[in-house]
Amino acid sequence: MKYSFLILFALCCLFACDTAKNSRATSGSDAERHRPAFHFTPPEKWMNDPNGMFFYEGEYHLFYQYYPGGTVWGPMHWGHAVSPDMVHWKHLPVALYPDSLGLIFSGSAVVDWNNTSGFGKNGRPPLVAIFTHHLMAGEKAGRHDFQYQSIAYSTDKGRTWTKYAGNPVIPNTAGIHDFRDPKVIWDKQSKQWVMAFAAGNHVKLWGSPDLKHWTHLSDFGREWGSHAGVWECPDLFPVTVDGSGEQKWVLLLSINPGAPNGGSGTQYFAGNFDGKNFVLDERFAASVRGEKGIWLDYGRDNYAGVTWSDIPASDGRRLFLGWMSNWDYATLVPTASWRSAMTVPRALRLKNTPEGLRLYSEPVRELASLRGKKTDIPAADIDGNLVINTLSTASEIDLEFEWKAGETPQPFGLELFNARGEQVSAGFDAAKQQLFIDRSKSGNMAFSPKFSSREVAPYRPAGQRIRLHCLIDVASIEVFADGGACAMTDIFFPTEDFTGLRVFGKGVRVLPGKVWDLKKVR
Ligand code: FRU
Repeated sequence: MKYSFLILFALCCLFACDTAKNSRATSGSDAERHRPAFHFTPPEKWMNDPNGMFFYEGEYHLFYQYYPGGTVWGPMHWGHAVSPDMVHWKHLPVALYPDSLGLIFSGSAVVDWNNTSGFGKNGRPPLVAIFTHHLMAGEKAGRHDFQYQSIAYSTDKGRTWTKYAGNPVIPNTAGIHDFRDPKVIWDKQSKQWVMAFAAGNHVKLWGSPDLKHWTHLSDFGREWGSHAGVWECPDLFPVTVDGSGEQKWVLLLSINPGAPNGGSGTQYFAGNFDGKNFVLDERFAASVRGEKGIWLDYGRDNYAGVTWSDIPASDGRRLFLGWMSNWDYATLVPTASWRSAMTVPRALRLKNTPEGLRLYSEPVRELASLRGKKTDIPAADIDGNLVINTLSTASEIDLEFEWKAGETPQPFGLELFNARGEQVSAGFDAAKQQLFIDRSKSGNMAFSPKFSSREVAPYRPAGQRIRLHCLIDVASIEVFADGGACAMTDIFFPTEDFTGLRVFGKGVRVLPGKVWDLKKVR
């Protein structure tokens, strides 16, 4: 967050009353209005960033920034849930509570397989969480050293956590105002734990043999990428370039404000890491020189996302989850009993493209278990509008569009609509080579002047064809173009559910496609 957390907390309290009124007006007596069917949401109250994600003994763990005292941002705890498949979640009690060292801000968790920390018990590896302690009293007193990195451990499958008596493990001796969000991995090559965390305008890398004693390795990023806001929530991990066997490293980096379409967004960098320095791949460097960012998602609502730790090598995927909101309006969105959802889990792949190394993201295959009734969409030339379905509020739409070489069709795509004239559209503008989502007529937008928007993403399909794979879930749309080459995520709040689907365009042909109703997970 750009603003001091103190100011944010005060503002949240002020807005809380206003928003409660607002919510009642738009949602009638239904406290669950806008609750997604298959996206992760907290059972109640406020949630922001995903934290501490790891896989252990058949369970995907998800922790998250949580304020159990209200539906706006407040003193941070780590909420907790587990899942066998990243789709069906079981809520568990709050895992980490604020203490005398501060609130529990974002961070990560790892399985310490070799018990390097010594926290293990009865031959079982400990689970170690690494997070930022944020001392409100320090911030209030105008100090700059109120954020520092601490750890906690669990020896009962993450059910209970003990804070390390030697916290903080990385004190903020230099007094760096923004000094947070540690993400830790075990680096096989340099045989050490490597921590990446954000320090205002750059990322710091630190190394450790045991998760308790850390030394500074290097800094990255002052001169690369977008610096239009504060850097937050980095994630550095190795990844094999698709189809080549070559290993590269990717650094995800969230920034607020400064996203390409406003507010919060996540950029990324591709390069090499030698156990000390992260150095950009040469071609990639050219794309992020001079304040330019390459973004993981060009929609408004995918922020602070990081990847799961300890996914078994036999699986091999790099799995990601983001917070499906934006600090521009997160505390104001018109939901009543809870606030905000996560994106669907996504598998990330690094590909060598004509533009250089690029990250692709696609919904994980486990989501296919939600598919219910399928509707086949026959091929058709689109000339104006084609209403092809009565849409379920939770659905998956997989359509491919084609146009003639040498011709430039008008913007085309799909539109969700209701009987009140509210709509959200997503599609492609071939003349401008842009993917877009338009939520400027999406229903309730009065809660924030920053909400209404039409967003674009620069995108150049390989030929005269584009596949749009979309997940719709009551109050959100996630669009993945051409197998995840470009992704866009947006939330919206219609005053009546969207139950209509229209394919629109002129001079374009839709190929045989599919629409599935998706099941509720709760
Ligand atoms: C990102 C962020 C983090 C911080 C957390 C506080 O959304 O601002 O930098 O740790 O949220 O809740």
